[in-house]
Amino acid sequence: MSLLSTLSIVCGLMLQLYFSLLSAQHCVPRNTVSYQSNLKLFRKEGTFNYSTMLIRDDLGVLLLGAREAVFALDLNNISVQKDMDKWGVTQEKQRECTYKGKNAEVECRNYVRTLHSLNDTTFYVCGTNAFSPTCDYMTFANNNLTLKRKQEEGKGKCPFDPFQRYSSLMVGNDLYSATSINFLGSEPVVLRTSALTLRTEFKSSWLSEPNFVYMDFMEESFESPDGDDDKVYLFFSENAMEYDFYRKVVVSRVARVCKGDMGGQRTLQRKWTSFLKARLDCSFPEPSLPPIVQDVFLLRHKDWRKSVFYAVFTPQSSMSQISAVCAYTVDAIRAIFNEGKFKTSVAVETSHVKWVMYTGEVPVPRPGACINDVARKTGMNRSLDLPDKTLQFIRDRPLMDEAVPPLTGGPLLLKAGPLLTRIVVDSVLALDGETYNVMFIGTENGYVQKAVNFDGEMFIIEEIQLYENPEAIKTLSLSSSKGQLYAGADSGAVQMPVSDCSRYQSCEDCILSRDPYCAWDSSGERCSSVYSLPADRKTAVQSLKDGDVSQCPSPDPVAAVDVALVPGNNIQLTCRPHSNLARVHWRFSGLHLQANSKYYIYGGGLLVLNTAASDAGFYLCDSVEQTNGRTYNRTAAVYHLHVFSEPELDVNPTPEITVTKHFIQTLKTAATGSQPDLASEDPLMPETQSDAGKVSRLEVAVALLSLLCLSLIGVLLWFWKQGHWKCFSFMPGSKGVERKRPSTDYTHIQNRNSEIKLLGPEAGRPCSANNNHSAVDFKGNGECPVPPRANISGLDVLGLIHDESEI
Ligand SMILES: *[C@@H]1O[C@H](CO)[C@@H](O)[C@H](O)[C@H]1NC(C)=O
Ligand SMILES: *[C@@H]1O[C@H](CO)[C@@H](O)[C@H](O)[C@H]1NC(C)=O
Ligand SMILES: *[C@@H]1O[C@H](CO)[C@@H](O)[C@H](O)[C@H]1NC(C)=O
Ligand SMILES: *[C@@H]1O[C@H](CO)[C@@H](O)[C@H](O)[C@H]1NC(C)=O
Ligand SMILES: *[C@@H]1O[C@H](CO)[C@@H](O)[C@H](O)[C@H]1NC(C)=O
Ligand SMILES: *[C@@H]1O[C@H](CO)[C@@H](O)[C@H](O)[C@H]1NC(C)=O
Repeated sequence: MSLLSTLSIVCGLMLQLYFSLLSAQHCVPRNTVSYQSNLKLFRKEGTFNYSTMLIRDDLGVLLLGAREAVFALDLNNISVQKDMDKWGVTQEKQRECTYKGKNAEVECRNYVRTLHSLNDTTFYVCGTNAFSPTCDYMTFANNNLTLKRKQEEGKGKCPFDPFQRYSSLMVGNDLYSATSINFLGSEPVVLRTSALTLRTEFKSSWLSEPNFVYMDFMEESFESPDGDDDKVYLFFSENAMEYDFYRKVVVSRVARVCKGDMGGQRTLQRKWTSFLKARLDCSFPEPSLPPIVQDVFLLRHKDWRKSVFYAVFTPQSSMSQISAVCAYTVDAIRAIFNEGKFKTSVAVETSHVKWVMYTGEVPVPRPGACINDVARKTGMNRSLDLPDKTLQFIRDRPLMDEAVPPLTGGPLLLKAGPLLTRIVVDSVLALDGETYNVMFIGTENGYVQKAVNFDGEMFIIEEIQLYENPEAIKTLSLSSSKGQLYAGADSGAVQMPVSDCSRYQSCEDCILSRDPYCAWDSSGERCSSVYSLPADRKTAVQSLKDGDVSQCPSPDPVAAVDVALVPGNNIQLTCRPHSNLARVHWRFSGLHLQANSKYYIYGGGLLVLNTAASDAGFYLCDSVEQTNGRTYNRTAAVYHLHVFSEPELDVNPTPEITVTKHFIQTLKTAATGSQPDLASEDPLMPETQSDAGKVSRLEVAVALLSLLCLSLIGVLLWFWKQGHWKCFSFMPGSKGVERKRPSTDYTHIQNRNSEIKLLGPEAGRPCSANNNHSAVDFKGNGECPVPPRANISGLDVLGLIHDESEI
């Protein structure tokens, strides 16, 4: 590696670290609900890895696949087990597996990974079966769950390796699966098991070390004006082929195939003729490698074109801790596949291949298109009739040139801290007649984040701790009709309601929570679910976009607490902000108190140091919360300090405490310790130094450059602080991303038949914060961070040739 690229990497990484430190304060959940022992949970002694779920609302059961067992649980209370069946591995299989070098107790077991409905009573299940994937049938009738033990080959339908991500989907009786087809896990395949089995080519231009995360079906033939076919969409990440970079770069993709595909006659025999893929764009507001898609949820709309895929992304580099949610309409994805340009490979220099935009002539029928009326008119009724020219084109060029832009031009949510793992989205009809899409996102430490994007404003209503010990949520399922969410992790499954409005005890809290499920019922004087309100809803108050509490009855004044003051002593007055977003301010005799040698203000209250008689009087603690530009200010506590006099001694309790110097010191370090200290927290420094012994000149150069970077970061930090940073309000960049405003109503197909409104596109508020980020030139020309750019699409920062004609 050249000196220059080393330097630019050092610089880039340091900048990234700096950005992650900065962003760490953003998108704080308004409320934190810690673990409650009354959660409905399911776990069976000795059984782990509850990672596969299937909800059957009609049967009232949740089918839960775990290691060597499948459970049928009551949807209303998953602690109630209706039945179970064991599905272990035979000793022989386990022995074979261990001979091949796998761990008997970890890998050589049967992990149930697939659960699909075939009909009312029959299910299709697959398990890894000690690195020998096997599928089977299962029935559930009269509360009796039975594995049929018909044992079918599971290769290509289910992974060998229990730790490998994969995805599958049952459409009619056809099983679509995306997984590895060999023991080593090195041969990825997108397979349809049906009367005519189809698969992908074993070519790295089709799939390159992919990580499959999600698949879904879209009935696009419905009322299609051009006789289009139904499609299966697949989401995954893989090694990028289109970027010229010093190391492997992973990108996120969406791919699709046509349901009616039958493969080609000579070319692409028994292979997909309709496999197309495109990059998913989800630009983080910080320079970074492209984020990696981890999970997807399809929010269906009665007009399938407006259905939306919500995708969770995590950073590619461990330097960043920011996860994101981006959403994509089916329409936007279709536009890329149906009308977009292709990428093609060209040889540059002798052995090197670059992928660039294809500018030549595209054969007819369009490569990768499903058979439609136009094709049928020319006598092509099946993919088998497609000409070789079309098939050869698509065999060599499955990648689209353009990336799919996210719905609002950028993320709907950005969250620092523990990474996001899984997502489901529910839609709620609120009192204002609009439908809000509420995201429930599982994290790697066992929490669910409940978030909404209000016209571009990111807001996390609350975070709920579902697991007592931190562990990654591996699966999330939603039953909209029951209003329940089900989470699975290694230790067990947990059920939680989509809302618990009774948590909000005052009108202000109910409104400020901005929870679309909750409204303040003035007649009952409680925070109630919008579904349980009286029909006319006249007495209910909700203010989701503004968080406006003016309609709430004025709260009762806070009674003052008497505190005796002994001159010369210290006094501690406690006061807690009413939410994670609120800050406390103290007033005394009409003045706002500032921290100084007299007053020590900390998270839990105020310390009045070395009191004198002049400190007697009323101390007011205001808890102040900013919501969408509005300030909500509530007096949370009032203390009345009066000078201590003898006769009162036994009457008044004296909450004063003696504060040692040590305690104050601890408080002070606690307060300052939270500030980003680049010099001491930079984990890169020791690393760069350890290498240095060998290459002393490099060392000097790197050190110099690091210094330069540090000072640059300092300058940037200063600039940054000028902007207002809270929870991001993301605005589309200036790249000219088309923002489609949904014009008609959205419906949630499976539930309540309510409307869904897509949030974000009409975001009109300017956001000063997002347009002045800097990009790192990862290609590396030895320069330190480059000047601000208007739009950072993760990949725009990587050098690439845009067009075939540029070569
Ligand atoms: C299954 O659960 C165990 C216990 O928590 C864990 O150590 C293991 O990694 C899990 N296996 C898989 C394949 O997730
Ligand atoms: C759920 O079922 C468990 C086990 O039968 C029971 O102990 C618990 O009380 C039930 N919870 C509710 C809320 O009904
Ligand atoms: C359900 O599907 C299974 C397997 O395909 C079949 O054997 C069974 O008869 C079907 N049952 C019903 C009620 O259709
Ligand atoms: C469940 O059904 C199977 C046959 O389908 C039967 O052998 C088994 O005894 C039944 N179990 C219970 C608990 O009824
Ligand atoms: C395609 O279908 C049409 C109408 O069904 C039929 O007339 C025509 O012969 C078919 N063409 C081929 C090549 O099979
Ligand atoms: C909160 O309200 C009180 C009383 O109305 C006012 O004196 C105080 O300045 C307000 N605090 C903030 C931070 O706005």
